[in-house]
Amino acid sequence: MTARAGRHQPVMRHATVDALRPCLGGLIVDGTAGQGGHAQALLDAGAEQILAIDLDPDAVRWLSRRFQSDPRVQPLHASYSDLPQAIGADRAAGVLLDLGVSSKQLETAERGFSFRLEGPLDMRFDPTAGAPAVQLVNRLPEADLAALIREYGEERRSRAVARRIVASRPIETTTELARAVARAFPGRRRRHPATRTFQAIRIATNDELDVLRNGLAGARLALRAGGRLAVIAFHSLEDRIVKQAFRRWAQEGLGEVLTRRPIRPNRSETQHNPRARSARLRVFSVVGRS
Ligand SMILES: C[S@@+](CC[C@H](N)C(=O)[O-])C[C@H]1O[C@@H](n2cnc3c(N)ncnc32)[C@H](O)[C@@H]1O
Repeated sequence: MTARAGRHQPVMRHATVDALRPCLGGLIVDGTAGQGGHAQALLDAGAEQILAIDLDPDAVRWLSRRFQSDPRVQPLHASYSDLPQAIGADRAAGVLLDLGVSSKQLETAERGFSFRLEGPLDMRFDPTAGAPAVQLVNRLPEADLAALIREYGEERRSRAVARRIVASRPIETTTELARAVARAFPGRRRRHPATRTFQAIRIATNDELDVLRNGLAGARLALRAGGRLAVIAFHSLEDRIVKQAFRRWAQEGLGEVLTRRPIRPNRSETQHNPRARSARLRVFSVVGRS
């Protein structure tokens, strides 16, 4: 896909397609299809059948419109953690998980993902289910909030941040939260001080790390022998879970890790797409079954 304004640029498009090239003749599950950038790249490379899953109903509507005249793509509103229930075991030739938030979600103020845009503190990938971030931000005791921000945001000043948040309650919007967090960081910084806290609250709101653990296990079961699982992670917590799962499976004789080291985007990609900077792609090939 070309880099058009408002369109999500698929991260490491070529490396992702290369990783899944042996799977193009079978069913490929794009478990986080978003705006369909990777799905389109796979189609362009010759993919014959793609199940395009997303948890966000808006994304699924978008995917349905984008691929309405392409019978090779079937959009589905689901969580990738519901594989293999969605398709059955031993079915997929390839599974792709491109974790995190899409540009469209970040740029839509009402979704509440961005500390730069004024919006309600929602942050749910599926706004029709579960509790929005506003509940967690306003109800969690200070110590629990600090622990969450430290664990999921890897924020060293987590206690100061939690104290400022609690002192600023009630907090209703993204920018109110960003301002409260910024008070814990006197002075100027290169990154916005709310980056890590927003990441932490988003991860907690969507239970992202447990979903990833379950999703990896389900994806492996959904893959047929010889199938490949490609995962793009955007922060060290996710990447560690992927790395450890792949290593464990290899030790158990369930397949082979095809990426001894994660694949990183090249400089030209990170220059054009800053979102790609922290991306790491890991690939596993399934050979057997427990
Ligand atoms: C980084 S974007 C994917 C972009 C996509 N690869 C593209 O090229 O357009 C991540 C997507 O994953 C979706 N998502 C997050 N958690 C999910 C889950 N548990 N199951 C399915 N989709 C999920 C988000 O809604 C978002 O659309």
